[in-house]
Amino acid sequence: MTSKPFNDTFLKACRGEATERVPVWYMRQAGRYQPEYRAIRAKYSFFEMNYIPEVCAEVTRLPVEQLGVDAAILFADIMTPLKPIGVDVNIESGVGPVIGNPITSLADVERLQDLEPETHVPYIMESIKLLREQLSVPLIGFAGAPFTLASYMIEGGPSKHYHKTKAFMYTEPAAWQALMDKLGDMTITYLKAQIKAGAQAVQVFDSWVGALNDEDYREYITPVMTRIFQALKETGVPTIYFGIGAGHLLLDWNRLPVDVVGLDWRTSITTARNMGVTKTLQGNLDPTLLLAPWEKLEAKAKEILDEGTKQPGFIFNLGHGVFPDAKVETLQKLTAFIHSYKRDV
Ligand code: CP3
Repeated sequence: MTSKPFNDTFLKACRGEATERVPVWYMRQAGRYQPEYRAIRAKYSFFEMNYIPEVCAEVTRLPVEQLGVDAAILFADIMTPLKPIGVDVNIESGVGPVIGNPITSLADVERLQDLEPETHVPYIMESIKLLREQLSVPLIGFAGAPFTLASYMIEGGPSKHYHKTKAFMYTEPAAWQALMDKLGDMTITYLKAQIKAGAQAVQVFDSWVGALNDEDYREYITPVMTRIFQALKETGVPTIYFGIGAGHLLLDWNRLPVDVVGLDWRTSITTARNMGVTKTLQGNLDPTLLLAPWEKLEAKAKEILDEGTKQPGFIFNLGHGVFPDAKVETLQKLTAFIHSYKRDV
């Protein structure tokens, strides 16, 4: 399977180097929009798919083979490492993660175990090793960021306004700090284990941190995110930080020791650059455009490519994950379009 030469355009772009074509991958590129995924998912629960390295590797490879993307992302979930440390979490189709024992106090935080990757999630490292033998594109490892994980752990499931999470942060500062410390340690340990097993880049998903204003972000979140990215620096592996509705935090992110900033579709690349964001960017096509007429999708993709390639090292992605009613053919056509793009100089 690895007879193809290794495609390193994604890793070059992460390092801010020029590439002969723009690399592309899609968040949630493995999922229910693929008939092959649905057939496998019909046989296993979400976490069972995680536990069996052959199944995990097969699902991870599906979009690489089907779409021709320039990177694979390990098939798992941001909730995967929480289950073995004492969080009673299940993934409900169409809902998301649902938690049976939400956190309400410092005692609940103290009950969480420290993550020991070799004991708690050995299948993750096995899947990574297997994938490294099979893939001819880089493999991205990932983890959820402390705020986003905490939001599920405190709310008990998906939420719109994160009221319980923010109320806990404001009223139980010691418990909040203990939770951030614990989740920060977990993220570092988990990502270092993925890197040791062979992950060639890592993305930290902070999907819901945009719920905080910039002042609160600086007070409650910047310290733990700085610690995480600083600890990962010593591995030499590129790091990516992504969030949704977080345009007001981009300058704070630009100061973090992270390599690549992932944009959602609300903030254009030009807006981010004009704000003063200097890091390598990844993004940011509104995934809803996958359902729009091709001409509209193509025009927006071209605009993103024109803006993104003004500086060397740009990675095309969606502004959030692929959703179940997207079409495989549309993603194939989009990928081919990105690969054929040449900048008019
Ligand atoms: O990107 C990939 O292809 C890799 C796999 C991946 C999944 N989840 C698989 C998954 C990644 C990187 C994630 C990250 C994730 N999970 C995030 C951060 C990114 C984002 O979307 O904001 C978040 C917030 C979660 C939590 C979560 N897990 C949600 C919101 C859902 C979707 C619920 C639904 O059914 O729509 C899940 C479940 C999930 N994670 C699915 C997949 C393929 C669907 C599972 C199924 O088949 O039912």
